[in-house]
Amino acid sequence: MTNPTLALENISKQFPGVKALDGVHFDINAGEVHALLGENGAGKSTLIKIVSGVYKSDTGSIRIDGQAVTFNNPREAQGKGIATIYQELSLYPELTVAENIFIGHAPHRSFGPLKVVDWGTVYERARELLASLNIHDLDVRRKVGSLNVGNRQRVEIAKALSINARVLIMDEPTAALTETDVERLFEIVRLLKGQGVGIIYISHRLQEVFELADRATVLRDGQYVGTKAVKDTSEDELISMMVGRTIDNLFPKLPAKPGEPVLEIRNLTRPPLTRNVSLTVRAGEIVGLSGLVGSGRSELAQVIFGMTPAQSGEIYIGGQRVHINHPAQAVKLGIAYVPEDRGTQGLVKQMNIRENASLAVLRALSRASFIKRGEERTLAKNAIQQLSIRAYGTEQIVNKLSGGNQQKVVISKWLASKPKLLIMDEPTRGIDVGAKSEIHRLMSELAVNQGLAILMISSELPEVLGMSDRVLVMREGQLVAEFDRTQATQESVGAAMMRVQAVNGSS
Ligand SMILES: Nc1ncnc2c1ncn2[C@@H]1O[C@H](COP(=O)(O)OP(=O)(O)OP(=O)(O)O)[C@@H](O)[C@H]1O
Ligand SMILES: [Mg+2]
Repeated sequence: MTNPTLALENISKQFPGVKALDGVHFDINAGEVHALLGENGAGKSTLIKIVSGVYKSDTGSIRIDGQAVTFNNPREAQGKGIATIYQELSLYPELTVAENIFIGHAPHRSFGPLKVVDWGTVYERARELLASLNIHDLDVRRKVGSLNVGNRQRVEIAKALSINARVLIMDEPTAALTETDVERLFEIVRLLKGQGVGIIYISHRLQEVFELADRATVLRDGQYVGTKAVKDTSEDELISMMVGRTIDNLFPKLPAKPGEPVLEIRNLTRPPLTRNVSLTVRAGEIVGLSGLVGSGRSELAQVIFGMTPAQSGEIYIGGQRVHINHPAQAVKLGIAYVPEDRGTQGLVKQMNIRENASLAVLRALSRASFIKRGEERTLAKNAIQQLSIRAYGTEQIVNKLSGGNQQKVVISKWLASKPKLLIMDEPTRGIDVGAKSEIHRLMSELAVNQGLAILMISSELPEVLGMSDRVLVMREGQLVAEFDRTQATQESVGAAMMRVQAVNGSS
């Protein structure tokens, strides 16, 4: 038998207050996609940071082709062919595509004692590298800041592969991608697999695991649970390995009794991506907003919330005509918005969970009384418990939480802010299955028991179908179809999303 390309044995890592990893095994062969699974905070990112030389493990060994290695820094890991794409993207927006790809190891030319970056070669090599990934439509001289997320991701991949990679680690690469971008990413993964690169793939979307991976390893609370060949396992089995129990209901939806309209918009327009949109969301109702990426869903949310105010059209809140030209006005009117990009918009990362969970956006803006520390702590404790946020307590700095647990803090903050209308953009992206079903349950309860009106944008069709009382479909900035809960199916909504001609569902 040949040695695996990379093998990890008995890896442990202690952080202050948390044993992030405890005796974990993992290995990867050439040309294999090996998924690494586990709930938020299970230790996935920590494990890959050990493989890529960011952290040192407390115990255990790393072998490459059977030879023990130690990495003192990321450069040493890269030197052995370990390429990593981290959960947090790490590009410089002000630099060009090519500069980002070769930052730190640009080809040089010597003029006597002087070493000068050879820009001609940098651009040429960047083009070659992208071409080798079948990417031909990306200008290497463009600033990365001007690219969309899908293209940034491609630059990240090219950057990771600018070393001679044998193992490529991808930590939740699809969390921020649209469907078309996900497809293109999968093509790149298959291409690399065909070239014999071993790929470690982290994702909370089990569908992707079944589509891409050969094997899956599950971690729970920092411990190794097991490894399965994907063809011999099922979603249910993997979920119960991750969560330690089975989850019978991912979409615990309660029957809704919609009340009076909370939000009504008429012919709302802000070109190019909000064109003549009219819709109503009633108290106690969850309205799902479906559509392909780029169809204008997030843009519509931002118009309603006053981030990019409408140019024409009308907004009514509780039957009253309002003008929303700034988020502060939206907040005063009882609108809350959980943005898609929570990393930058939702949290103050240097503050702890208690401060963030009660971050008094609503209260500060409406100049109501500030919250007492005791109340804050209760709020934070509830959040930690309800959404099983993996932290040592309410005083933990948010920066030190795992990616998914940071998102839970944002969601809990908005759920606790008691708005009349809650707009959620991709509410469960990057969140593990157990907590996902918990967030769904909270959404449904808040709607039914407290009359909250919810407008939910989601690219996951099962989530839209599972949670919505009505489903609206957007295409090219316009609403093109509407289905009630009983009519909305994978086929009907899917067809409306794709079709070029407008379709009329019944309303
Ligand atoms: N630098 C750090 N300092 C202290 N604790 C940390 C640090 N990094 C991670 N942790 C803790 O280690 C545990 C594992 O975190 P890790 O980021 O590996 O989880 P994960 O499996 O990647 O989760 P997610 O799916 O949310 O990304 C968590 O409890 C986290 O709070
Ligand atoms: Mg992680």
